[in-house]
Amino acid sequence: MKTQVLPATNEALSLAAELLSGGQLVAFPTETVYGLGANALDKDAVLSIFAAKDRPADNPLIVHVWNRDQLANICEVPPLAERLMDAFWPGPLTLLMPRKAAIPEQVTAGLRTVAVRMPSHPVALDMLRACNLPIAAPSANRSGKPSPTTAQHVLTDMDGRIPLIIDGGSSDVGLESTVLDINQPVPCILRPGGVTQAMLEAVIGPVTVAGSVLRPLQAGEKALSPGMMYKHYSPDGQVSLVEGDETDVLAALRELHRQAAANGHRACVMCFTEHVAALADCQPHDLGSKDHPEEVAHRLFETLRRLDDEHMDAIFSEVVPPEGVGLAVMNRLGRAAAFRTIQAKDVIKNA
Ligand code: TXA
Ligand code: MG
Repeated sequence: MKTQVLPATNEALSLAAELLSGGQLVAFPTETVYGLGANALDKDAVLSIFAAKDRPADNPLIVHVWNRDQLANICEVPPLAERLMDAFWPGPLTLLMPRKAAIPEQVTAGLRTVAVRMPSHPVALDMLRACNLPIAAPSANRSGKPSPTTAQHVLTDMDGRIPLIIDGGSSDVGLESTVLDINQPVPCILRPGGVTQAMLEAVIGPVTVAGSVLRPLQAGEKALSPGMMYKHYSPDGQVSLVEGDETDVLAALRELHRQAAANGHRACVMCFTEHVAALADCQPHDLGSKDHPEEVAHRLFETLRRLDDEHMDAIFSEVVPPEGVGLAVMNRLGRAAAFRTIQAKDVIKNA
């Protein structure tokens, strides 16, 4: 199959609508990451998403809408959801709501709830309006790869597997939406994203964060969100997180890089903009400013993909405080590193 990449013109959006209505797949930009869309009401179209991504069938998909009237056919809408939608839609908040029968169980992997969101990217909204179907769309990466934040990333993963990619430039947020479970006494963030715990609490009061957000699942622990698998968002090389005081971390990054390079590895560091000059000899990859976690979020997946392009095999990274958008950054970076963490002090002591 030949994969076309088209800028988001009216003709391209009409073609997208035609393909989606005919049961085919279209990759499209959203404000979080690029999605790989199919008609959520068409079981076979949904199954072809799993095939194109090599995605395990037990990992459910998010359904995208452009209009709240579409929900009548998709899910029950509790009053709490109405308040959240008023505050955060369109935008990077996915809500789990009780599923209705029109949504095939392939979308929800047999779960009782369906995940729904209204993206804010104008191209996504135009495409959803043009086809006027609920569109099931996971991130448009091959399973296990970082989510795509540009049309080029999608092409790298999906060339020959899907007919069309709509190019809407680079995704603003850069990390996937916040997934919120509202079907329990205290709503729970299953996956942190651009809509933070504090933003949610300002609207609906107390919200918890799933324990597995900042650590691997423990033996026998059930994943609340099937996507919270142990290793995810991984570059091919091994990523290690380096923690400690700023001066210790810089010294440790230099030492770890030196040792790895001496052992024949293609080694590099991921560091804040403020530290690039100090780590100039360590193949620094700029994560963005340490004072702007939104910038780190925006760049993270692109940076992880670049590590693969450069065939890096030993990668040492700084960390951000897990607060606000920093929580989403550390959830993704932690998974990229399989939560492998090194204390800077230990490195310096043994150097
Ligand atoms: O920003 C986003 O959410 C992007 C764009 C394309 O909208 N989509 C995205 O989809 O990240 P995906 O499939 O990569 O991630 C969906 C996440 C997975 O972790 C999945 O397990 C979880 O949502 N999920 C979906 N339905 C669920 C449900 N009913 N219960 C619990 N978790 C669910
Ligand atoms: Mg994904």
